[in-house]
Amino acid sequence: MKKIRRLVTGGFVMATAAIVFYSCQSNVKSAEKEEKKEPVVTAVLLQADSAAIPNDKYGEAVRYGQELMYNTAYYIGPEGINGKYLGNKMNCSNCHQQGGTKPFSFNLMLSHEHYPQYRAREGHVLTLAERVNNCVTRPHNGRPLPLDSKEMVAFLSYFRWINSFVPKDKPSKGVKNLEVTLPDVAASPERGEKLYVQHCARCHGAEGEGQLRNDKVTYTYPPLWGQYGYQPGSSMHRVIKQAQWLKANMPYDKATWDKPFLSDAEAMDIAAFVNDDSRHHRPDVKNFDYPHMEEKAIDYDKGPFADTFSTAQHKYGPYLPVIDYWKSKGWKPSY
Ligand code: HEC
Ligand code: HEC
Repeated sequence: MKKIRRLVTGGFVMATAAIVFYSCQSNVKSAEKEEKKEPVVTAVLLQADSAAIPNDKYGEAVRYGQELMYNTAYYIGPEGINGKYLGNKMNCSNCHQQGGTKPFSFNLMLSHEHYPQYRAREGHVLTLAERVNNCVTRPHNGRPLPLDSKEMVAFLSYFRWINSFVPKDKPSKGVKNLEVTLPDVAASPERGEKLYVQHCARCHGAEGEGQLRNDKVTYTYPPLWGQYGYQPGSSMHRVIKQAQWLKANMPYDKATWDKPFLSDAEAMDIAAFVNDDSRHHRPDVKNFDYPHMEEKAIDYDKGPFADTFSTAQHKYGPYLPVIDYWKSKGWKPSY
């Protein structure tokens, strides 16, 4: 835009200048509008203040829920002291960082008010408790917590409590994922492999195996694939979804949501490599998803599909033709 301004002040043929100036003006206006619409960074301010957890029975449940988010494997992992539910030793906070309060890290601060909700993957309305169990069963490859268990009640109490930090009169930022610009070409596991070696292997291991903590209860660096990684049915297994999260959060010691380390294309290529099932084994999935195939997320990689695009194109892109196809049918494609 600076360029255009210079041209204008430099004195163009009047008519052209007027047009250029006009479009410049309208850009300025919409940029200003954007800025005005830009929500206050509530999620950053919302860092749930643990000192504010009430000292009563509800507060006890909230505290246990918070503990469960960070030390999931210790309490309900394969050798959990309060029950054996998870199939691996990851913690909820490995993906929902800072107990689900970190912006752009699959933030959970609005979840309490967003459920019950229709979920296309299951094809029916889910309660928040059922949604929690989706993560217990898929990324954690476990068996569902009983809905009336102390643990489920604690998770739900905690979600209600973090939700109380969300201002009701302002939009929140950081709850939705960071956007990535979808490239015109397919994401490439081959390019992703090189980037993985460069940027990820030092923590997550050459074989994506992660690194167990000395006490072996959980991980210092969680695994990305293999029998202890997330299942293929997890949202993390979708290339766009993972790329959005990587852009804001990985490499752990280098990326922040407002200063990502990976470019959008790099994040897509790495997510393609991590999620390439022809290279990397994962636990088996037992359930079938998306009973209504036209509701599938476009980067979900299990057919049958309600469109004519291949499995590979759904998985790696290019996604823009898929998006255009669904838009032309009057559907809002999800990813
Ligand atoms: C391997 C990563 C991973 C792990 C581990 C994980 N989740 Fe998730 N979770 C996700 C992803 C991805 C989503 C979907 C986010 C999206 O659609 O943007 C999600 C969604 C959710 C949601 C729904 C949020 C909403 O508002 O719709 C809840 C609740 C949730 N997870 C709870 C948990 C709990 C509790 C645990 C631990 C028992 C857990 N998750 C472990 C990746 C993970
Ligand atoms: C400096 C060490 C480090 C580097 C480098 C790093 N990570 Fe991570 N990664 C972590 C830690 C620690 C966590 C858990 C975060 C938490 O608990 O707050 C994590 C979590 C994850 C998760 C979610 C949990 C899981 O295991 O599924 C994914 C996916 C992931 N990293 C991918 C990557 C990718 C891809 C790269 C390279 C671009 C990368 N990481 C680079 C340390 C690292």
